[in-house]
Amino acid sequence: MTTSRTALVTGATAGIGREFVEQLAGSGHRLVLVARDEARLQSVAAEVRQRHDVEVEVLAADLTDRAGLARVEARVADRRRPVDLLVNNAGFGLKERFLVNDIEAEQQMLDVLVTAVLRLSHAALGAMVERRHGAIVNVSSVASFLPRGTYSAAKAWVNSFSEWAHNEYSPDGVQVMVLCPGFVKTEFHQRMDVSRDSAPGFLWLEAPDLVREALADLGRGRRMSIPSKRYKAIVGAARVVPIGVLQRAQSLGRK
Ligand SMILES: NC(=O)c1ccc[n+]([C@@H]2O[C@H](COP(=O)([O-])OP(=O)(O)OC[C@H]3O[C@@H](n4cnc5c(N)ncnc54)[C@H](OP(=O)(O)O)[C@@H]3O)[C@@H](O)[C@H]2O)c1
Repeated sequence: MTTSRTALVTGATAGIGREFVEQLAGSGHRLVLVARDEARLQSVAAEVRQRHDVEVEVLAADLTDRAGLARVEARVADRRRPVDLLVNNAGFGLKERFLVNDIEAEQQMLDVLVTAVLRLSHAALGAMVERRHGAIVNVSSVASFLPRGTYSAAKAWVNSFSEWAHNEYSPDGVQVMVLCPGFVKTEFHQRMDVSRDSAPGFLWLEAPDLVREALADLGRGRRMSIPSKRYKAIVGAARVVPIGVLQRAQSLGRK
């Protein structure tokens, strides 16, 4: 990728976002790091500056909070300090089924997975279309192709929005790509209190491989990136199996 560009990554302190930061800094990008935990942001920023000798800004914000999100929108839209690449990555899942979850927890998940992606993309696209340059990576999930409750539904929104935006804005010189990871070894499942034994070993991807493949796909101008042959095959199958069959398969073994 081109050097001396600025990338803003949400959820930059852990997992997939932290790996985007590492690889983008390695290719000479200046970084803007967004997450809630300020101390952790400062510590990641110090590590990245030291290892890659690039400028790193931190922006502590809770994306479920409209005022916090507005500060990130303002940074993304700032014409004096252009953001060339936006990585909408922050996200989390809920362990319990829909009716067991508190509705406010469901709302917060929707706020981070959908509202933040919508508003940050709007802010970024406005500035990028004016400059006729820029790219957005929206991190979705292989779950978007499966009937797995509100998390899947939110990620399906990310796919639909991103695929539309890819076609809409590529004539303006702006690339939008949706990244659909399968299971990745990050803090995601630990934060949900779900063990890695919940999926067979061969399904777990390493974040560095995933992000390397995603950035290569971005470089090739792809609309969607599904890293690894395993998950390309799984998504190919999920697209042809009727939803009722997928839903019955999902519910096997569930109470
Ligand atoms: N891991 C997987 O198996 C997997 C599979 C498919 C898709 N994904 C998707 O990949 C993305 C990244 O997940 P990950 O696995 O890397 O998760 P992770 O390791 O748990 O990291 C999540 C990051 O998001 C930040 N974050 C969480 N809530 C936030 C909020 N309200 N406001 C701002 N930042 C917030 C966290 O920092 P703070 O806590 O400090 O805010 C952290 O930096 C998510 O969109 C997830 O849905 C993950």
